[in-house]
Amino acid sequence: MNTGILHLHYLVVTLFLLIYVIKTILLLSNKNDLLGKFSKKIKVPEMIISTLFLLTGVFLLTKLPFGGKYDYLLWIKLSMVAISIPVAIIGFKKSNKALAALSLLLITGSFGLAEVYHKRKGIAKVNTEMAANDAKSIYETNCASCHGTDGKLGLAGAKDLSATLLDNAAIKDVIKNGKGLMPASQLDDEKASIVAEYVSTQIKGH
Ligand code: HEC
Repeated sequence: MNTGILHLHYLVVTLFLLIYVIKTILLLSNKNDLLGKFSKKIKVPEMIISTLFLLTGVFLLTKLPFGGKYDYLLWIKLSMVAISIPVAIIGFKKSNKALAALSLLLITGSFGLAEVYHKRKGIAKVNTEMAANDAKSIYETNCASCHGTDGKLGLAGAKDLSATLLDNAAIKDVIKNGKGLMPASQLDDEKASIVAEYVSTQIKGH
């Protein structure tokens, strides 16, 4: 779902930039009549595109893993977009070439920055990496003392988890309620699910 929105965001941003480039070229080359006609024709699609631009942008913003060392790139990017919008509105309203060119520069630059950011830290990759690290660390803190990091330790009669026949749901049940000598864990439901998933995909059968 997130990657779908990301692709939609790229698509609308590209269309948005295209409209912008055409408008700016028309303004800079004094084709004001043509610019007027083009702006009129493109009004509705442009409104839809801008709205989608904003909505997908805000949605993706809520999914971003803030707290990384490349955050500053994001903040610069967001500031550039935020500044470019009023600059563009004034630039085109007043047919001010310098402002129109500046806003195009800002918005293209922010697109470039986004590319740099994603090259350094792919959103999807970061999300899955974070989830995987979470699961691993929860397992290692709560389970490895008896089961070992690979599930095979077998301390105090602990079952070999790499050889377990239990499915995901049954594993979660053991985690929450305990079994025989294994005490019920104090993990909350979400964490129990994450660890159960980790055991059944990373330890069971390995
Ligand atoms: C205090 C030691 C201890 C800790 C900590 C512990 N276990 Fe266990 N675990 C056991 C013992 C002992 C058994 C065997 C229970 C039995 O079958 O009587 C067991 C059994 C299991 C089983 C059942 C395996 C099977 O095939 O029947 C699963 C799954 C399991 N543990 C997962 C976990 C997970 C996940 C954690 C961490 C959240 C965890 N355990 C923490 C001791 C522990």
